[in-house]
Amino acid sequence: MIISSASDYRAAAERILPPFLFHYLDGGAYNEHTLKRNVEDLAAIALRQRVLRNMSSLDLSTTLLGEQVAMPVALAPVGLCGMYARRGEVQAAKAAEQHGIPFTLSTVSVCPIEEVSRAIQRPMWFQLYVLKDRGFMRNALERAKAAGCTTLIFTVDMPTPGARYRDAHSGMSGQYGSLRRYYQALTHPRWAWEVGINGRPHDLGNISAYRGKPTGLADYIGWLAKNFDPSISWSDLEWIRDFWQGPMVIKGILDAEDAKDAVRFGADGIVVSNHGGRQLDGVLSSARALPAIAEAVKGDVTIFADGGVRNGLDVVRMLALGADATLLGRAYLYALAVAGQSGVANVLSLIEKEMRVAMTLTGAKSISEISSQSLVESQRSSLY
Ligand code: GLV
Repeated sequence: MIISSASDYRAAAERILPPFLFHYLDGGAYNEHTLKRNVEDLAAIALRQRVLRNMSSLDLSTTLLGEQVAMPVALAPVGLCGMYARRGEVQAAKAAEQHGIPFTLSTVSVCPIEEVSRAIQRPMWFQLYVLKDRGFMRNALERAKAAGCTTLIFTVDMPTPGARYRDAHSGMSGQYGSLRRYYQALTHPRWAWEVGINGRPHDLGNISAYRGKPTGLADYIGWLAKNFDPSISWSDLEWIRDFWQGPMVIKGILDAEDAKDAVRFGADGIVVSNHGGRQLDGVLSSARALPAIAEAVKGDVTIFADGGVRNGLDVVRMLALGADATLLGRAYLYALAVAGQSGVANVLSLIEKEMRVAMTLTGAKSISEISSQSLVESQRSSLY
């Protein structure tokens, strides 16, 4: 299999992974309109080609929330990475470190905070969900702090999970789910050996560490629905400040008014995101939501964006639309499933090379030179 892009990793991952895992990662909510728009709207953003500007030296590095990064990309929090590769969170964190960018550990990771932080030197970021059990949230924050995590990414767009039709069809949820997953493991021997047998324990590592007993993954989707808290509001976020003195980023902003509230609340950053099209189908793609949000809060907070980023050209597009950096989710998970740490490292190198080409041909020598001027004019006016 020849791999030259994240899309090639996607195709390879589809062959390697049991369908319940591939579709859980690849799919979105309801009819997946937003999932598709994330990719299509971003790809449709026309870059403005410039030439003959001596682009022999480029600088992709920048500073995000006080940290020097090799390029304006961080690995997004993704649940269950450890089901995609043997101790997947550790492998992904090592690849991010190798590339000089931050790795974000999800609340619902397989490997607990301590297992990942022990494996790397670079401090990681930690993502927190709003769970009904505030005791767990406090415990997770304290452990993240003790493990040296620098930035907290607080996800607010999942007060209740959106239905993903694919999960019911693939056996991730629904009737006879465990039986179907077991059968799929048997028919995907490479995964069964690497992860099914040698990647254990399969567990929600952070939750189990708090409860003092295994949580297990038999009813993961049911667990999400039972434990997420729909009552969350801005005032609930205030106590988190007492437990977290480092930078705090609010993830799941899609509206300029919410972005302004995040600034008023004192957030250090926001992630313009529709949860990869996995929550409310029909909402705006990130690429279309981003410009108005950037217009409202650019300079007041660090603006991250995710959703549809599959290559380095997309990173440059998001920056031109107003983001300071992007998060990368599916694009790195496909690679993790195919080749573990080296797959993620390779996808990051591909993204870097693609960014270099896009910057060279749009005339941006550094990250700060990527702006709305990097887009063709008709594109700029049609954005708002
Ligand atoms: C969890 O965050 C999911 O999107 O499935």
